[in-house]
Amino acid sequence: MGLRNVILEGDEVLRKRSKEVKEVSGRILSLLDDMWETLESYNGIGLAAPQVGVLRRLAVIDTGAEGERIELINPRIISAEGSAEEEEGCLSFPGLIGIVERPQRLTVEAMGRDGKLFTIEGEGLLAKALSHEIDHLDGVLFVDKAISLEEA
Ligand code: CO
Repeated sequence: MGLRNVILEGDEVLRKRSKEVKEVSGRILSLLDDMWETLESYNGIGLAAPQVGVLRRLAVIDTGAEGERIELINPRIISAEGSAEEEEGCLSFPGLIGIVERPQRLTVEAMGRDGKLFTIEGEGLLAKALSHEIDHLDGVLFVDKAISLEEA
């Protein structure tokens, strides 16, 4: 399939809770591939499946750190520590940035494309991205949590 359309603010689909992935099928793998292609086309940091109109618990993250290409299936926050207030944006809200309080460190358990569970620990930008993308899976958007918002 390739590039998918990114759903923009105002669309109800962004507000829905995504469902667990029961099986890492070929369809899920090609969705992940399309999500990467879409994310890269925007030079984005993260993308969650509901942002391409699919209500499944999937997200991809690349903060730009070397060798980092994180795929999360059914991610679940195990622990969160500290907090940081920093700027962030979202591909579903082009031209908008907000200051959002996020955990400074986050530990997440998820399934990989091999169907195996793994744990990832994120700090700083990665913690922020993990928190932001997992929120999408519950229909929570960064504007809900933003302390302030402004046009980029
Ligand atoms: Co977002």
